[in-house]
Amino acid sequence: MDPNGSLIFPSQVSTIAPEVDALFDFILYLSIIFFILVVGGTFYFAWKYRKKGEDTFTKDLSHNNMLEVLWTVIPTILVFIIFVWGFKSYMKMTIPPDTSMEIKVTGQKWFWTFNYAEGATTTNELVVPVNQPVKLLMSSNDVIHSFYVPNFRTKMDVLPNRYTQLWFEATETGEYNLFCTEYCGKGHSEMIGKVKVLTRADYDAWLAGAGNAGANMKPEEFGAKLYKDKACFTCHSIDGSPLVGPSFKGLFGRTEKMTDGSEATADENYIRESILEPQAKVVQGFQPIMPTYQGVLKDEEIDALIAYFKTLK
Ligand code: CUA
Repeated sequence: MDPNGSLIFPSQVSTIAPEVDALFDFILYLSIIFFILVVGGTFYFAWKYRKKGEDTFTKDLSHNNMLEVLWTVIPTILVFIIFVWGFKSYMKMTIPPDTSMEIKVTGQKWFWTFNYAEGATTTNELVVPVNQPVKLLMSSNDVIHSFYVPNFRTKMDVLPNRYTQLWFEATETGEYNLFCTEYCGKGHSEMIGKVKVLTRADYDAWLAGAGNAGANMKPEEFGAKLYKDKACFTCHSIDGSPLVGPSFKGLFGRTEKMTDGSEATADENYIRESILEPQAKVVQGFQPIMPTYQGVLKDEEIDALIAYFKTLK
């Protein structure tokens, strides 16, 4: 549980969060009051007008104008308050400020890719500066996903063949959960990431370094980092157990049987092809569902992954 959150909610970390919670609380308390009135009234009248003896009947009751006006007018006013309040907040949540920076979000089975205007790319980790409106332009490469950051109180479906957008302004630095909240297949529950909110200075420094990640690492170390960062682990284990895809343990040099009956040995070219054109060769016993990493992984990143696979004996 979030130590800074309330009983029901995680902490509020965006400009819109307090507003969303205030309206939620208003509706919640209103519902509790009416629940008590209705259920309390039900029990009270059941007791008050119970049968008291053989010949005692409650006299006929007709209507009461005053009561009928009150229970029509009061709820109508309350519903209008909720409507106007909700509409105002909705407009605020929907229209990004002109000062927003834009980040492209791509959802696909089963990870998130973020493309920054300056050319950097991250997987499953959205990095943003604090106190800066950020507009996300989102689309999916396959099925419907949904982008949800509970601490920001923002959620939006991510659709194939069309853009949706969402904006937020984070108010505190830190790391926050990112969930996919639209059931998108076997790996749905694994489609989780982080939003990292940095100070402006840290963000600029991160962005400057993001282009040459892995520069000071051995290829196999960089590969191990990519295996995590690019979410390969969602479908490929390194301990030999088959998940959605074959395990990477002992992969290099292994001879695999393909669904078309042919055989192939997992060398550098086989691995490169499997990453960029996953459907070219599909190992027997697995579905042809791996997405392409064309445009997601650079050449030196594929080299690093191959170097890493070689260490997984
Ligand atoms: Cu993507 Cu659920």
